[in-house]
Amino acid sequence: MKSTAPKRFPNLLGDIGAKRFLRDYWQKKPLLIRGAIPGFGGDLSRQDLIDLACRDDLESRYVSRRGENWQLEHGPFTKARIKRWKQPWSLLVQGVNLVVPEGDRLLRAFNFIPYARLDDLMVSYATDGGGVGPHFDNYDVFLLQGSGRRRWRISKQADHEFLPDQPLKILRNFKAEDEWLLEPGDMLYLPPQWAHDGIAESGDAGDCMTWSIGFRAPPAQELADQFLSYLQDNLHVDGRYQDPGLALQAHPAEIGAEMIDQVETMLRGIQWDKSLVEEFLGQMLTEPKQQVVFDPPEAPMSRGKFRQRLRQNDLALDPRSQLLFTANHFYLNGEKQDVPPVARAAIRELADHRSLSKTISVEDPLATLLYDWYCCGFANFVVGR
Ligand code: SIN
Ligand code: CO
Repeated sequence: MKSTAPKRFPNLLGDIGAKRFLRDYWQKKPLLIRGAIPGFGGDLSRQDLIDLACRDDLESRYVSRRGENWQLEHGPFTKARIKRWKQPWSLLVQGVNLVVPEGDRLLRAFNFIPYARLDDLMVSYATDGGGVGPHFDNYDVFLLQGSGRRRWRISKQADHEFLPDQPLKILRNFKAEDEWLLEPGDMLYLPPQWAHDGIAESGDAGDCMTWSIGFRAPPAQELADQFLSYLQDNLHVDGRYQDPGLALQAHPAEIGAEMIDQVETMLRGIQWDKSLVEEFLGQMLTEPKQQVVFDPPEAPMSRGKFRQRLRQNDLALDPRSQLLFTANHFYLNGEKQDVPPVARAAIRELADHRSLSKTISVEDPLATLLYDWYCCGFANFVVGR
């Protein structure tokens, strides 16, 4: 797939093409794009976001400030509790793309960055004057203004000292170097570690909602921890400790040098290669978020009916499904998939576009594989789009 120009949102990067964006801005410097999605107001209302914040399968946060003190609460919330919040406040909901198909489509418009780097879509609502305070993030983010207005102030400052005794990491000495008032459809890209502070300036513009498209870049320590636990599940080391030549030790409590040598040699047997790292990455990157539970169809259609439907309707991945591939292997929702060669082009298409056109020719092995995924709730037919 050509992933240089997002088709549904042709102005997403303004007049800067994806190649130039990657060369000059990505992980390097901020970029403000006026009218990135002209007329974008977001499909979510304040009430929709509140409903999402009451769900227990999404992470949500409430942030508010009283004088010098910040308050942070984690969801799920109840409507009664939300009614008691005193203005100004912000409500932030993570993983909106997992449950709102429009959110998933928006996230995929950023396909000039590999899906392996995509994290999630967070949507925030703020009352006038609300914000989460000056801070920096360790990941790249596109801050797309939905409804209302928000003033963003940013800084490259090296001073990362935080206010003491606060539930959030608020920068103590934030000194803005640039600022812009974002209107609906405007977007600000920020590389990791750029300090920023966004304050809702709704006034007569109404509710302020910001859509944040975030990317993941795990710390080396986290990758190492996860890889070690992957190795633990996937490694088999032969042999057993033995010492037929054991010599009498002067100190029975001493761990002898020969024992240390032998164990060191054994442990050197733990090795990995690129294919193991690939498998680890494939499984790790497609592992669904902790709270994700798929909904298999209650009364699945028969295989025959399924084959027939493949010719009538497009098939789409569930927004919660993660499908990635390498040169020769495919990974879906944390598991390596056995994809027969004849089905590979279509599955790559499905992974890139998140849907498969009814016009493709469906061979038996492909239909069998897709039917299994449909029965697990990983994919389903698109009706009426
Ligand atoms: C917000 O939407 O209020 C905060 C987003 C961010 O700073 O990353
Ligand atoms: Co931020």
